[in-house]
Amino acid sequence: MSTAQTLDDELSSLATFYELGSYICSELNLDEVLTRISWAVVNLMQTEASSIITVDEANNQLTFEAAYGVAASRLSKFTFPRNEKSVAGWVVMTGQPLIINNTHNSPHFSGNIDRDTHFVTRNILCVPMSVKGKIIGCIEVLNKKAGTISEVPADFNDLDMVRLSAMSSQAAVAIDNARQYQRVESAMSELNASYYQCLLFLSDTIDLRDSNTGGHCRRVVKYTRNLAEHLGISDPKELTDIEYGALLHDVGKLKIEDRILRKPGPLDEDEWKIMRMHPQYGSDGLSQIKFLWRALPIVLYHHEHWDGSGYPEGRVGEDIPIEARIFAVCDAFDAITSVRPYKEAMSYTEAREYFLRERGRIYDPKVVDAFLALGESHWVKLLAEVGHSPSLNELFPGGFPPNPNGTA
Ligand SMILES: [Fe+2]
Ligand SMILES: [Fe+2]
Repeated sequence: MSTAQTLDDELSSLATFYELGSYICSELNLDEVLTRISWAVVNLMQTEASSIITVDEANNQLTFEAAYGVAASRLSKFTFPRNEKSVAGWVVMTGQPLIINNTHNSPHFSGNIDRDTHFVTRNILCVPMSVKGKIIGCIEVLNKKAGTISEVPADFNDLDMVRLSAMSSQAAVAIDNARQYQRVESAMSELNASYYQCLLFLSDTIDLRDSNTGGHCRRVVKYTRNLAEHLGISDPKELTDIEYGALLHDVGKLKIEDRILRKPGPLDEDEWKIMRMHPQYGSDGLSQIKFLWRALPIVLYHHEHWDGSGYPEGRVGEDIPIEARIFAVCDAFDAITSVRPYKEAMSYTEAREYFLRERGRIYDPKVVDAFLALGESHWVKLLAEVGHSPSLNELFPGGFPPNPNGTA
């Protein structure tokens, strides 16, 4: 082979190495990273199979995390002891690479895994993977394919070892990055779950304080998310913000004094002025909490009316954020079909008549139409999933108080 040909081969090999390295490192999902590594090394090294094996420190074991080749599916998550009796064990224990070109003569090759998988290992090259001086596993490539000149199966050589070792450094970094990303993701999801539990607790407190509207906030979360999805909102983050807004829509009522919020008789004009401050109070409070910023439109605008007669700003039509328009229908539906201290629950038919009456005055016609198009059975099913409110007789076995002030 000429010097020019050798140089071409090396440049081509370097380009492949660079491309495969980028392909591995551009992914953060751990399973996908492992799959990519096992595929990349087979292509780089021109072998029949590969395995990515990681160290399980807690159980002192080695685990086949990913494999490529005919026996790959049988190896998935297969574990074996971390000791020097296996090729992978010897490599991770000593930190040295190992070439075995004749498996029949090697003290390191037991053949146990071949017996389980029915794969026939002719030769094997195994190199350690380490990050920051710590061995996290190894990469094996098995059965080097015949070269372009000869049909005779090839042996692994020192150059192969150098190439696979270089690739293993990139693979180890990619695995470490993906693991760290997985840990951050898991911590974030735990944090979000904790936040959500806090918000549920807060919303239950609002419900308890606000005239026994038991479970109202949880129900409107379900309704609002569902109707938003039917109106074409599909972004998970947007839907989560809608849930937060629905859950906390009346959080501002926590600043309204009991003498007004729980007044048994009708509110006078001054008291109504205070009561109508609750969207602003809620918005002011939540605007201090960054992760709830995008929930503010529902909190601030849930009492705006389509024709501009609502509060706090008297916004008209599509100037009212869509999530607040969707929420307003769901909030009213739950209020009028639930028992309150001063009234029995209305039927779905009565609620339908109410919405048809107020369509285009209080509520966005498009939202009302979408709500009604789903039909009674749809909303009854959702209600069953989230839990009914208590009946009036359960709340007030001795009779219920007269209507004070309607819903605010
Ligand atoms: Fe409200
Ligand atoms: Fe409400």
